[in-house]
Amino acid sequence: MMIAPTRGTAHPCWQSPQPPVTTRPLAVRNRDDTLTRQRKRFINMLIAHNIAKSFPTRSGDLPILRDVSVQIGPGEGVAILGPSGSGKSTLLNILGTLERPTGGSLTLDDEDLLKLDEQALAQFRNTKVGFVFQDHHLMPTCSALENVLLPTIPRSPRPEDATRARELLDSVGLADRGDHRPPELSGGEKQRVALARALINEPRLVLADEPTGNLDRDTAEQVGELLENLPRSRDVILVVVTHSTTLAARFARRFALTDGCLHADS
Ligand SMILES: Nc1ncnc2c1ncn2[C@@H]1O[C@H](COP(=O)(O)OP(=O)(O)O)[C@@H](O)[C@H]1O
Ligand SMILES: [Mg+2]
Repeated sequence: MMIAPTRGTAHPCWQSPQPPVTTRPLAVRNRDDTLTRQRKRFINMLIAHNIAKSFPTRSGDLPILRDVSVQIGPGEGVAILGPSGSGKSTLLNILGTLERPTGGSLTLDDEDLLKLDEQALAQFRNTKVGFVFQDHHLMPTCSALENVLLPTIPRSPRPEDATRARELLDSVGLADRGDHRPPELSGGEKQRVALARALINEPRLVLADEPTGNLDRDTAEQVGELLENLPRSRDVILVVVTHSTTLAARFARRFALTDGCLHADS
C-alpha cells in the first residue's frame, strides 16, 4: 500500500492510496476491538514515508531516491525491481538503518527509527533486522553453524542458540553441513547459511539485496523458494531487491524503482 505525499498531488511519485475499506457499518460492540486490531496491524508495520536520499558530489547533490513511500506488514514479502544504479541497495540500506535518508520518515513497530542514536541503531539492527547480501559475507574460517551463530555475539548468547541455529540449518536443507566451512560449500549452500544467519535473532525485518544474483538458475530457484515462504513461516517482513523478474514473480507485491520512486509493478 502506498501513502500519498503530504505536499501537493502533482508529484510524479504519487500513487493512489488503497486503504482497507469497510463497506458495512461495524457492530457497535465490536468497534473497539476492530479499531484495536487495525491499530495493532498498523503498529506492526514497516512504514517508509516520503523517503528521499541525495549524495553530495563535487557538482552538487545527486538525488537517488526522490519520494519513496511503502507500508509492509508482518507475513508479507515485497520485491523491488530496478536497473543497476536505480537506488535499490540505497533504499534497502535505509530500510535497514545502515544509511540515513536525507528526507522522510521511517518507523517499525511504531518506533521512529530516525530518532535512534548510533548505539540504539546498532542494537536495533542486531536484534530486529536480518540482512542477506548478494555475496553471502560468511566468515571463511568459521563453520556453517558458527556463522549462523555470529549475530548472537553482540547480544548475550543464550543456551538455546545452538539448538536454534541447528534447526535453522535444517530448515534450509543443510542439517548435515553444520561443520563445513564456507570454502567447502557451494554458492547456493553458502547463501542458505546466510539466510539461516539472518534469522537467528528472530528478526522482525529481513532485507535481501540481490540474494540470487550470484547463483545459477537451479540454485536460485531453491533460494527463491525459501525466500518466498519466509514471511509466512516466520511472520517476518521481507523486502527483496533484485533485477531478476523470476525471483520477483514469487511475490504478490512488486514495485519498480525508477526515477527515485516506487511504482507498483503488476
Ligand atoms: N556513497 C555514495 N556517494 C555517491 N553516490 C552514491 C553513493 N552510494 C551510491 N551512490 C550512487 O547511487 C546510485 C544508486 O546506487 P545503488 O543504490 O547501489 O543502486 P542499485 O543497487 O540499484 O544498483 C548509483 O549511481 C551510485 O553510484
Ligand atoms: Mg545494488
